[in-house]
Amino acid sequence: APIQPPDLQDCHPPNIPDSAPDLSCCLTSRTGTEIVDFKPPPASAPLRVRPAAHLVDQEHLAKYERAVSLMKQLPDDDPRSFGQQWRVHCAYCDAAYDQVGFPNLDLQIHNCWLFFPWHRFYLYFHERILGKLINDDTFALPFWNWDAPDGMALPAIYANMSSPLYNERRNPAHQPPFTLDLDYSGTDSTIPREQQIDQNLRIMYRQMISSAKKTELFFGQPYRQGDQPDPGAGSVENVPHGPVHVWTGNPSLPNGEDMGNFYSAARDPAFFAHHGNVDRMWYIWNGLRPGNTGFTDADWLDAAFLFYDEDARLVRVRVRDCLDPSALRFTYQDVGLPWLNAKP
Ligand code: C2O
Repeated sequence: APIQPPDLQDCHPPNIPDSAPDLSCCLTSRTGTEIVDFKPPPASAPLRVRPAAHLVDQEHLAKYERAVSLMKQLPDDDPRSFGQQWRVHCAYCDAAYDQVGFPNLDLQIHNCWLFFPWHRFYLYFHERILGKLINDDTFALPFWNWDAPDGMALPAIYANMSSPLYNERRNPAHQPPFTLDLDYSGTDSTIPREQQIDQNLRIMYRQMISSAKKTELFFGQPYRQGDQPDPGAGSVENVPHGPVHVWTGNPSLPNGEDMGNFYSAARDPAFFAHHGNVDRMWYIWNGLRPGNTGFTDADWLDAAFLFYDEDARLVRVRVRDCLDPSALRFTYQDVGLPWLNAKP
């Protein structure tokens, strides 16, 4: 059977390292809150075109900054507040919820076939909340275009200290224009930039093509009701998704906060740009070969989660509802795929 949405009334303190601050990741939940089933936006709704973060223009940046700043000003118990938004990620990754009907069995949406769909919905609602705060139904989150040379550094819009997109808990040595290593494992390589870029492009080819020829290899392993968490991640979730997290966080903090640890990752606005590109990799993979579709298994298609939408309604979503970005009314700026010919 498919994974069921969590019971928000039954939320535990997260399972995070002792060196992390004491915190709750539970979603706002009021007894009796009505749960509505997800409905896609009308086909006539404007298409949100997510831009590459390094190409964002002044006008778009101003909107984005205003939206994030308004989100940060919402009362903390508003499910649309920045504080609640990052906790959603912590809750679904750090054992705040058990699987319904399986006490002591953690609900974990990483390291399995739920990774791509769960994060697609997470960004979908986050983007719509931001858009709503500035009254703009075309607002689109930027993506960190780390698969192309011009995107292989922390996007500068996140590094401006006076911007609401700034976060102080990042690796001070990895500020733009320092070159990103898509396979970062804790030590900075000393190879020249051109060589690092070349290596990154070959990593992209490997993770998107050579190592992603089967559905499970790309999405991750099946994870069904009653299963132990972490059956295994897909190619892109492993690399570069994981290394980019660790590369961004501050290694001198106990858990690589913020980006280097599940519980704190989404406190960094750059998280949403990183996951924009992770989601874009799914979108691109779908178009690479005719066989690159999702699973047909109902335990994947009917797996369900809960999110708050832009009107603070609690929505039940199923994986099958997120498979087509155009039905969700978003797409990605076409910036080319320089790794397509980077066969190792
Ligand atoms: Cu939910 Cu990038 O992790």
